[in-house]
Amino acid sequence: MPANRAPSHGDRLPPGIVYDEIDRYMDDLANRGDAALMAVEKQGMKDDWPIVGAAEGSFLHILARSVRAKRILELGTAIGYSGTWLARALADGGELVTVEHDAETAALAQKNFEKTGVTPKVRILVGSADRILRDLKGPFDFIFNDIDKAGYPAVLEPCIERLRIGGLLVTDNVLWNGDVARKVQSAETTAIRTYNERLAKDPRMIATIVPLRDGVSIAAKVRD
Ligand SMILES: C[S@@+](CC[C@H](N)C(=O)[O-])C[C@H]1O[C@@H](n2cnc3c(N)ncnc32)[C@H](O)[C@@H]1O
Repeated sequence: MPANRAPSHGDRLPPGIVYDEIDRYMDDLANRGDAALMAVEKQGMKDDWPIVGAAEGSFLHILARSVRAKRILELGTAIGYSGTWLARALADGGELVTVEHDAETAALAQKNFEKTGVTPKVRILVGSADRILRDLKGPFDFIFNDIDKAGYPAVLEPCIERLRIGGLLVTDNVLWNGDVARKVQSAETTAIRTYNERLAKDPRMIATIVPLRDGVSIAAKVRD
């Protein structure tokens, strides 16, 4: 691999958009929440769950808080790590609806939501995101999309339709270790590229990408 090129998924190296030492620096400074949330983070690292980590978790929290989100939708619950960051950002009386297609994983998330004290604000829906979205009514103030990457294009339109004007659609892994900008043609890379391009061109949305971890897209809905 040439020294001046960032690694790609094809190189079988750990993901990263910025240099490792910068990623570590940001992670070291990140707010990690209380002991209960740190325990979920630790479980994620120990058991290899692809959770967003502390820097991105706190970023999600800040964004949800800044739009005073009362109704948040998360696609891809895993063990409830990002879900806890989001639930803790809710305005009084707010609700997080989080979707997970694997029932055993959803049960782990339920336990963690109990430990982090957010259960009264969280509703877990078990099933595939595209199916669940068919019956789920908006509007949401904030949507976080973190499902299987090949599934991104199918959920884009339902997410935009269910977002209120002024609401945010935030999506993880949109740089896919930089592969989206290269000639990589894997199913995931192609799907993320399609998603990013559709989002960038959508007249209802203003979108940008922040090179945090594996790339986080933030899109505000500005009109119906
Ligand atoms: C990257 S992990 C989510 C991590 C989580 N957001 C966090 O940071 O704590 C993706 C999760 O979404 C679930 N998932 C993947 N594709 C899905 C789909 N199409 N519908 C529902 N859940 C899905 C997986 O089982 C996995 O638990």
